[in-house]
Amino acid sequence: MKNLDKEFPKEFLWGGAVAANQLEGAFDADGKGLSSNDIIERVKPENRKAAPLPFPSLQEVREALEDGENRYFPKRQGIDFYHRYKEDIALFKELGFKAFRLSIAWSRIFPKGDELKPNEAGLLYYDNVFNELIRQGIEPIVTLSHYEMPLHLSIEYGGWTNRKVIDFFVRFSETVLDRYKEKVKYWITFNEINSILMSPFISGGILRNQVEEEKLLQAKFQAAHHQLVASAKAVEACHRLVPNGQIGCMVLGMINYPNNPRPEDVLAALQDQRKTFFFTDVQVRGHYPSYMKRYFKEQGITIEKKKEDEQVLQDNLVDFISLSYYMSTVSAGPETTGEKAGGNILTNLKNPYLSSSEWGWQIDPVGLRTLLNMFYERYEKPLFIVENGLGALDKVEDNGCIHDEYRIEYLQEHLVQVREAINDGVEIIGYTSWGPIDLISFSTSEMSKRYGFIYVDQDDEGNGTLERKRKDSFYWYKNVIASNGKNLNSLQEKLISK
Ligand code: BG6
Repeated sequence: MKNLDKEFPKEFLWGGAVAANQLEGAFDADGKGLSSNDIIERVKPENRKAAPLPFPSLQEVREALEDGENRYFPKRQGIDFYHRYKEDIALFKELGFKAFRLSIAWSRIFPKGDELKPNEAGLLYYDNVFNELIRQGIEPIVTLSHYEMPLHLSIEYGGWTNRKVIDFFVRFSETVLDRYKEKVKYWITFNEINSILMSPFISGGILRNQVEEEKLLQAKFQAAHHQLVASAKAVEACHRLVPNGQIGCMVLGMINYPNNPRPEDVLAALQDQRKTFFFTDVQVRGHYPSYMKRYFKEQGITIEKKKEDEQVLQDNLVDFISLSYYMSTVSAGPETTGEKAGGNILTNLKNPYLSSSEWGWQIDPVGLRTLLNMFYERYEKPLFIVENGLGALDKVEDNGCIHDEYRIEYLQEHLVQVREAINDGVEIIGYTSWGPIDLISFSTSEMSKRYGFIYVDQDDEGNGTLERKRKDSFYWYKNVIASNGKNLNSLQEKLISK
């Protein structure tokens, strides 16, 4: 086949992405309040492929708070980025990063979430981080909400099921948008906003006993509505406050293949695909899509909306669509059973044509090209791949080297498909791979599930020197960025650490 030769655009934003709760640590420093992830324990290795996402009851939260000293909550400690950000940003600079995606911990700025005045020490910390990024020539991409909220808002308000939380979030958003308007141009509202349907606590702040089991779906969609309105209000605030600011939505990018050509399977795949598209449809087109009417009716869901909501959604459309992509999945109509695939959120059946990671996530680079095309054809808005990567167990050799050729292979194959999508005509702003430095896993809170180019010496119990080491993939990614993706074709070109 003829080489199409279209390269990555000159201004392509190469980099990496992280979330505050997975790497900062310092969970109670400088006036920070407790956040939802500060009470989550690690999943045991034997459960890692099928562990349910955390959904604690109020009682369990209280026990965790009382017993904080005796139990280990990995996200309280993170990898101590809070104190080591300069050293880590210097490594990102060495990698050649053009951009770095990070999130602001809401509970550093408003420790309980419902205060009127922000915590100055928290604001100052992010001033310092953004200053350092800018000094090193790296563009900050900031997520307003990445899988956390002040724990107080869960306990006292029921998380995002409560409409009051919209106002608290808007206050937080306006505070940081205004404070950092000269430093940060790219903003993202909610990380993987579609995840709320599977992850009511981490994504929605809902505790298990706050909602009766049979009303849970209703509660999740009510919370989702509040997030969609809050997101639109943050879009409005960004456009008002940040000169040349750009703000996007963010979804967990999942592609749903039909199990086979059976029409019922094709229909099931379409319906499952809407668990992603519903959220982008609202944020990009400005209204609830018509297909949801039937779904809500069938499920007995009634969403309480204020009169103004429709206008708010319509008037405040996002500037770009950002997405994560790790795997694809398979959908089947009624009367089909099959082996389930692993995954942290939206997965379903196993695909016999794909291999899987050690956590059972199905690896599908071509699926990324297809998905990028699907999004672009549907919306014709710029796309930004803000997460992609392989969680794997790494081994440190006796001489200190880490030979992670499996990670290089995964990333290389996905980037080749990103370039194919660019050749298909898809407009892509950039690519920030997930966890450029090892951090705590979102779904299992393990340290041993590593994504980084940079190894961090810490184990699952929080022991280690926290020393940072360059893996083989570090040199490979550096080379990819330096060549603006030109030398992706030959796997042999990967550079091995000495
Ligand atoms: C995405 C999240 O779903 O996947 C990240 O936005 C997360 O926060 C990443 O870390 C990888 O998932 P995990 O569970 O392997 O950490």
